[in-house]
Amino acid sequence: MAVLNSKTRIAVFISGRGSNLKNLIRKSKLNKSKYRVYLVISNKADSKGLDYAKKNKIKNYSIEKKLPVFENYALRLIKTNKIEVICLAGFMKILSPIFIKKIKIPILNIHPSLLPKLKGLNTHERAIKAKHKFSGCTVHYVNEKLDSGKIIIQKKIKISKSDNAKSLEKKILKLEHKAYDEALEKILFFKK
Ligand code: GRF
Repeated sequence: MAVLNSKTRIAVFISGRGSNLKNLIRKSKLNKSKYRVYLVISNKADSKGLDYAKKNKIKNYSIEKKLPVFENYALRLIKTNKIEVICLAGFMKILSPIFIKKIKIPILNIHPSLLPKLKGLNTHERAIKAKHKFSGCTVHYVNEKLDSGKIIIQKKIKISKSDNAKSLEKKILKLEHKAYDEALEKILFFKK
């Protein structure tokens, strides 16, 4: 008898480097993991993250189109592949409220700051400039407002006097790689 793979199918949307994607793929392969990276969509054909998908034989698409076309195509892929959760990981487009409403499955995002502090771009530069004592990362649900959905997990780090934007980014990226997996396991905890 065939054994059904009961892991939750996730799709990861990326735009570039894809280190969070790489890490999710790695973690998803552990037996105890409740999710499986089933689909990768990039809005940039040259994003390095697509290589990880290819190497791991994960379905992958690059859709270099204007937002409405991108969203229509992505919506179809989500439906036909029976995706249950979307994870944005370094995805640089802002999804439209129509897409978020139509999709009817959770959308998660990872953001490199302690939300609600430092929404938007260049968080590390801004944290240093504003002399914040702490920074970190947040995994949250996506709603119609930028970086404003319900928080699932945060990880915090102390900013040291010698930190600059680059060193801070490096430290926080390490935290991100733990946080995304933990957030997924958290929301999927009660799923059989
Ligand atoms: C991460 O810092 C993430 O928090 C932000 O964009 C970056 C993406 O990095 N949204 P990567 O592509 O996953 O390496």
